[in-house]
Amino acid sequence: MRNGRMSEVTSALSGRLAFGGDYNPEQWPEDQWPEDVRLMQEAGVNLVTVGVFSWALLEPEEGRYDFGWLDRVLDLLHAGGIRVDLANATATPPPWFSRAYPQSLPVDEHGAVRSYGARQAFCPSSPDYRSAAARLTTAIVARYAAHPAVVLWHVHNEYGCHNWHCYCDTSAAAFRTWLRQRYGELDALNDAWGTAFWSQHYYDWEEVLPPRTPAYQTSVNPTQQLDFWRFSSDELLDCFRAEARILRRHSAQPVTTNFMHFFKPLDYWAWAAEQDLVSNDHYLMAEGLGERGATHDLAMSADLVRSLAGGSPWLLMEHSTSAVNWQPRNPAKAPGQLRRDSLSHVARGADGALFFQWRASRAGSEKFHSGLVPHAGTDSRQWRDVVALGSELRSLAQVTGTSVESEVAVLFDWHSWWGLEMDSHPSADVNLMTEVRSWHRALWEQGVTCDFVHPDAELDRYRLLLVPNLYLVSDAAADRIAQFVRGGGTVVVGWFSGIVDENDHIRLGGYPGAFRELLGIQVEEFAPLLAGQQVTVTGLGRDHLATVWAERGQGTDAEVVASYADGPAAGDPAVTRRSRGQGTAWYIGTRLPPDALKEVLGRAMGDAHVVPVLDLATWPAGLDAVRRRGADGSYLFAINHGGEPVRVPAEGTDLVTGRDWTTGTTLAAGDLAVIVQR
Ligand code: GAL
Repeated sequence: MRNGRMSEVTSALSGRLAFGGDYNPEQWPEDQWPEDVRLMQEAGVNLVTVGVFSWALLEPEEGRYDFGWLDRVLDLLHAGGIRVDLANATATPPPWFSRAYPQSLPVDEHGAVRSYGARQAFCPSSPDYRSAAARLTTAIVARYAAHPAVVLWHVHNEYGCHNWHCYCDTSAAAFRTWLRQRYGELDALNDAWGTAFWSQHYYDWEEVLPPRTPAYQTSVNPTQQLDFWRFSSDELLDCFRAEARILRRHSAQPVTTNFMHFFKPLDYWAWAAEQDLVSNDHYLMAEGLGERGATHDLAMSADLVRSLAGGSPWLLMEHSTSAVNWQPRNPAKAPGQLRRDSLSHVARGADGALFFQWRASRAGSEKFHSGLVPHAGTDSRQWRDVVALGSELRSLAQVTGTSVESEVAVLFDWHSWWGLEMDSHPSADVNLMTEVRSWHRALWEQGVTCDFVHPDAELDRYRLLLVPNLYLVSDAAADRIAQFVRGGGTVVVGWFSGIVDENDHIRLGGYPGAFRELLGIQVEEFAPLLAGQQVTVTGLGRDHLATVWAERGQGTDAEVVASYADGPAAGDPAVTRRSRGQGTAWYIGTRLPPDALKEVLGRAMGDAHVVPVLDLATWPAGLDAVRRRGADGSYLFAINHGGEPVRVPAEGTDLVTGRDWTTGTTLAAGDLAVIVQR
């Protein structure tokens, strides 16, 4: 496990939070660059990412490099006191490359070759792409490792964003190599994939393929699919590793690649272990998350990224000053939202807030994407907001290096996610993010901070563990959870958890196989609900209407907290609770509506003695409060995303305004405070 080197970047920034973004000077005439640097100084920008999509300009033809313009940009930035996160520019090979090596283009599951002309048009297994990327990386690091402006290496960009799976023959061969390493013998693969079913037995490794589009209206072997997700994440990670290795061989600066938080194709637990510091890109989804869903997403994303970083400070590599351009409808941010959004990440452990991008483009696919310098220029509210944010971040320098503490963990596993959402399951409405989002939100709305944890994580420092939809689980992880409960922890397991082992084979003897014993329940049959169907759950105060899922079964020695009053599982338990050793194990067998879920998780919090970050009788809608703690005291971030003033019961000094804070002080609608408590 690497990680933890964000502090080297902040030291290079004189102990300040990082502020800046992607700087793409190649999109602009050179005589404008000095003005860019002047404006960066005006805004307090101290870190910019350069060269992400510069391959075509840096290597105009194979083996011939043109570094002149980049030399001049880096020298100019250095002279202006701006530090650089330098990309190795491998994110998008130039058209000449794709034309010279057409076999490097990605192929989709239907066998169609995907073209260049956008970005990331390469097959992750392509030896031609890999060697060209290695040569370019070597040339860049050789030239710039000693450049005084460079404080961080930015490998590639958002790995897998557009090419997470490739089904070409090269990928097929690489998949077979990966499978040979995993299984050794073909018989072991046959066993793991359950190929006795549907006449799929393999007699020769060469027969094994990626899960290409099957014959009409049927389903590809699920373990083959699962292994292909695993392989594809590993294959891109190999690309990262190879480039990072070159950078580390020639340079002492830390290395990162920017994550996309809950990005399904990449197992970021495995990726995070290879980063010198974890960095992330976060964009608000304007639609589909419901009221305050986007605001909550800021918190949930940052909680994941901090957890991936093992609790160390991390870097927000990209977000947007206002609108993006790639959603169907792209709303502008509301006044004040820029600062609230940026500070939401800082509150949860980011030691900097960078943006895509410095200047809003005038050409290309992202010309309608906001930037730090808007199309309107600097005589604009957007620019004034950017300058104000820069100055606010400067005033918060002392939070760098501090960390967020949490007593609650949410178990999150990419392999289980891949298995969970496979076709041919009891219900197509099962969706991990819907579930994780609602569970995390139920805590967020009560002022409780959560970490996310890998199934193999040490759980000792937590009081409460949430396990939503952990479909696939190893024996070892299930044992660790049981041990956590025996040792006094409280766990809440969600429906359709513990169902299969790592090979996606059902755990026999009744559901939820891996957790049956721990929870004291025995589910005989799933009873998924039809689209729009609701069932009544009684026992949690008033009746509630649950959706998507129900189960026929019984609590053996678990206390039945709530049951189904109607529907396919009428009379059976919906929510159970059982004391185990010194701890407590809860089970939720259906998708509860938000208020019922809040009720159950609230009771589990009571069992675990978990308390919110602020002592408030009811948590005001839109208040995000979280604490960062350092050697000299703690910093309570209170961000009021709501439309009403809220009272924040805390004592200390607001770092942003310098005013004293007492328990009666209110935070105006849309405002924020960072209250230092010593
Ligand atoms: C990210 C990407 C940037 C830019 C941005 C737009 O996915 O890394 O290059 O495309 O989105 O929101």
